[in-house]
Amino acid sequence: MDFENILIGVEEGIATITFNRPKALNALNSALLAELSRALDNVADDEDIRVLVLTGAGDKAFVAGADIKELAALTALQAKRFAQKGQSVINKIAALPIPVIAAVNGYALGGGTEMALACDFIYAAESANMGLPETTLGLIPGFGGTQRLSRLIGSNQAKELIYTGKIIPAREAQTLGLVNQVFSAELLMGAVMETARSLAAKGRVSLRAAKEAVNSGLDTDLATGLKIEQDGFAICMISTDAEEGTRAFIEKRKPVFKGRLS
Ligand code: CAA
Repeated sequence: MDFENILIGVEEGIATITFNRPKALNALNSALLAELSRALDNVADDEDIRVLVLTGAGDKAFVAGADIKELAALTALQAKRFAQKGQSVINKIAALPIPVIAAVNGYALGGGTEMALACDFIYAAESANMGLPETTLGLIPGFGGTQRLSRLIGSNQAKELIYTGKIIPAREAQTLGLVNQVFSAELLMGAVMETARSLAAKGRVSLRAAKEAVNSGLDTDLATGLKIEQDGFAICMISTDAEEGTRAFIEKRKPVFKGRLS
């Protein structure tokens, strides 16, 4: 499939989508968002893809935000539509039934941080910078930042970052719980791929159930969340993956998961 603004590659069951507008620091214009939407549909439909990695082309940026040149002239109605479109693409990342890792290799600002927030977790280069600088433009985050950042790091920390528009280095983002792990720029992709390979070797049924339980549980009360967990546990138990995983333990060997329910 031909894409101009993103690159997509698949190796050993791991798909990598690379935002590819390095001259604009991979800013999200409508064309990129449309391509990303199609690519995510393809990933969702491809049963051989076990893990998705998102990263940015070049050594300067993951994504420097929504394309300011494109959004500068929007009317209120067009801005609402733009935010809806961006959110719906980013929601597709969160809804994928496979693990998604953000490899933040440079600036992840505005829509870039919002994109990373929809991933399951974030690994970042030491040189990366993150933040939601929209108030600096007289705006607020429009691709989910006010919601996902406060759910992840707490409303007080999120408010400070959103109100000030402060751009913070990866280590500070890690201290806040926004970033899981920080690596030197040279080691980042190797570390991301190592984790991706270990996830690709796990049972697809159990990873899917774990993601569903955590994500759905965050949007509900504890009792309902625990019920979701019970159902996921029961579904995993009847999968061929659980049969293989438990038998491999007893037979003292490594499991070979097929990723099938039955
Ligand atoms: N949109 C469009 N173009 C962008 C861009 C963006 N978000 N960020 C960078 N670029 C372009 C620059 O215009 C420049 O292009 P030209 O060479 O044609 O002038 C090129 O990328 C390189 O950028 P700089 O020269 O500015 O590079 P720098 O190293 O001096 O600064 C930076 C890097 C600090 C990231 C700076 O580019 C910057 O502040 N970018 C904007 C960040 C931002 O405000 N993002 C939020 C956008 S709004 C948003 O995302 C809303 C939402 O929630 C959906």
